[in-house]
Amino acid sequence: MKYLTTILLTVGILPLSAQQIVINTEHTALVLRVDKDKRLHQTYLGKRLIHEKEYDMLSNMGEVCIANGNGDYFEPAFHISNNKGNETLVLKYVSHQVKKTEDNNTETVIVLSDEVRQNSVRLFYKTYSKEDVISTYAEIINGEQQPVYLYKYASALLHLNAEAYYLTQFNGDWAAEVGMTESRLGFGKKIIDSNLGTRTNMFASPFFVLSLEKNAEENTGKALIGTLGWTGNFRFTFEVDHENKLRVISGINPYNSKYELKVGETFKTPEFIFTYSERGTGEASRNIHSWARRHRIKDGQGERLTLLNNWEATYFDFNEKKIIALIDEAKTLGLDMFLLDDGWFGNKYPRNNDNAGLGDWQPNKKKLPNGLNALTAATAKKGIKFGLWIEPEMVNPKSELIEQHPDWAIAWNDRTQSYFRNQLVLDMSNPEVQAYVFNIIDGLLTTCPNISYFKWDCNSPMTNVYSAYEQSCQSHLFIDYVKGFYAVLDKLKTKYPHLPMMLCAGGGGRTDYEALRYFTEFWASDNTDPIDRLYIQWGYSYLFPAKTICSHVTAWNKKVDIKFKIDVAMMGKMGFDLNFSTLSKPDAEFCKYAVQTYNGIKDIIFEGNLYRLVSPYNNTHTASMFIDNASKRAVVFAFDIFPRYSKTAPQPLRLQGLQAAKMYRVKEINRYDGKEQKIGTFSGDYLMSIGLQAFTGKRLESHVFYLEE
Ligand code: DGJ
Repeated sequence: MKYLTTILLTVGILPLSAQQIVINTEHTALVLRVDKDKRLHQTYLGKRLIHEKEYDMLSNMGEVCIANGNGDYFEPAFHISNNKGNETLVLKYVSHQVKKTEDNNTETVIVLSDEVRQNSVRLFYKTYSKEDVISTYAEIINGEQQPVYLYKYASALLHLNAEAYYLTQFNGDWAAEVGMTESRLGFGKKIIDSNLGTRTNMFASPFFVLSLEKNAEENTGKALIGTLGWTGNFRFTFEVDHENKLRVISGINPYNSKYELKVGETFKTPEFIFTYSERGTGEASRNIHSWARRHRIKDGQGERLTLLNNWEATYFDFNEKKIIALIDEAKTLGLDMFLLDDGWFGNKYPRNNDNAGLGDWQPNKKKLPNGLNALTAATAKKGIKFGLWIEPEMVNPKSELIEQHPDWAIAWNDRTQSYFRNQLVLDMSNPEVQAYVFNIIDGLLTTCPNISYFKWDCNSPMTNVYSAYEQSCQSHLFIDYVKGFYAVLDKLKTKYPHLPMMLCAGGGGRTDYEALRYFTEFWASDNTDPIDRLYIQWGYSYLFPAKTICSHVTAWNKKVDIKFKIDVAMMGKMGFDLNFSTLSKPDAEFCKYAVQTYNGIKDIIFEGNLYRLVSPYNNTHTASMFIDNASKRAVVFAFDIFPRYSKTAPQPLRLQGLQAAKMYRVKEINRYDGKEQKIGTFSGDYLMSIGLQAFTGKRLESHVFYLEE
């Protein structure tokens, strides 16, 4: 029989009773096949073929819904047992349908079921054709007459078959987010995950780049970028088997998270979102960026506000007078908003350091005797907006909130607590806590209607993992916490659909595409040293469009001049976190000028296409450029980091993405002397083949070029 199947496949005929399910975007195809015993296999993931019929010739790569005990020898996607101890599940195809979605894409829904245990799984594949993105998730339905227990519940299992696999991961720590390392995958498993509960991405980010056959390159090679939309514990398992085939399992991290499904209940996994390109990581990133702006991020195609944040200018040490002076500075600089950071609240336990006050969201009467309204009146008078920092999921043991609701914190009931930044995490699995968090924010917006923006922080991972609310099912906490978090965000988004918000978690500790449904941008890192930022922003750029990456100019690294700092910040959503009175007059003047420059080019940075030209990881130079969608205007950012002494000029910087036949006028902008300098007029062909003299042999220089057709 096996022999017959092989013959049928090689002549391009599907075996009798086999059925093909083709999930297509404009350039990518994921092909699944139901074989005669109703098992669902993946037969292809790659470049979309011109003749769909030819997928018939491909062999099975592996099952899509591998569950525990079904005879597969490697890591399964699902492990579901019932309370009779049945540890076996064989999910077989029942039906599928393809629907058109509102945005003119498609959604394929495949139903699989176990014939013995009546548990079923629905697989969802949503395509974003133009952006070449596929998002997939599963629903697990308990059809048994008894509870079942989910031990593993992946969002996706993808099979790949190539000569070699190179994995780029993005990991680090506080102030060292998204450091990139690439390694070749060999036999066995490589896991990237997080157990932190909250501030989940402090050490590892929920995304990866997988290159097939050779190392990742910007403009050539097969690259798959994948990410999980989940603001909690995640896990990616990459397993290479004895035949050098790779499976990638993505989903919630099942660590300490056995989940009980009652009779008739459904569990929905988060989305795994991926794109595939045969033209390198550059195109794959651009796919994800376009998808994110059009289909995912809150106000993805909307404006973003430039701002002045007081955190690094004052830390906790401020009063109304100081803040009003900063508001005046924000206006003088031409910024859109002033953002008041941590330290504005708490009376019985004033928030004068990170020891006290979290949870008591009333303005501190000493620092702000006239409340927040005095500040919003000051911003309104200046014609700018007012934003406010909050950390509503957290509590200090020194707070009125914990005195009133000791059981609202995630804390052990029988051991000494451990604290992270002197605080505890509130139990968002508890609906009372969810209501409290919503009411805090809603209350602030009601009593102070001129608040136009929130920076939502989350500084602590979950410590002392015990919930007084989830008494009988502690292993639900990690998951129900995240669901509770989303429930609050949903309610807020419904009531305030266009309220811009910055996602922050002690720097970049939360960076995922489910949270970004509710947030317009995120704080990339507390590390604002411009040199480090070149690396950090470079890392984030693989997944996130520039308009989401908050990049502030601060006092970090006194050896770097203000122009370099600003040029770095301009490659993202620019802001300042500075006390301008500490700057020299020419530096302060330059900041003003730079804000105007930025306002003139930010549409290209926000909505255009990113080309990463030279990686900072070579430690000498780095450059990136943004081009508008019509290829008429572009901005190029070039930095000399630590070039070694050389008698000869560095190589010219070859640009990308331009139209070869078009002529572009090139000038250098954002120069410290405030004067633009004409460089010349060149064809796209010349600029892409020969390039611009953009680098120097000097340390820590930067140049910004503007190109116009
Ligand atoms: C951590 C954030 O990353 C900082 O920007 C700042 O808001 C502090 N928290 C305030 O406590």
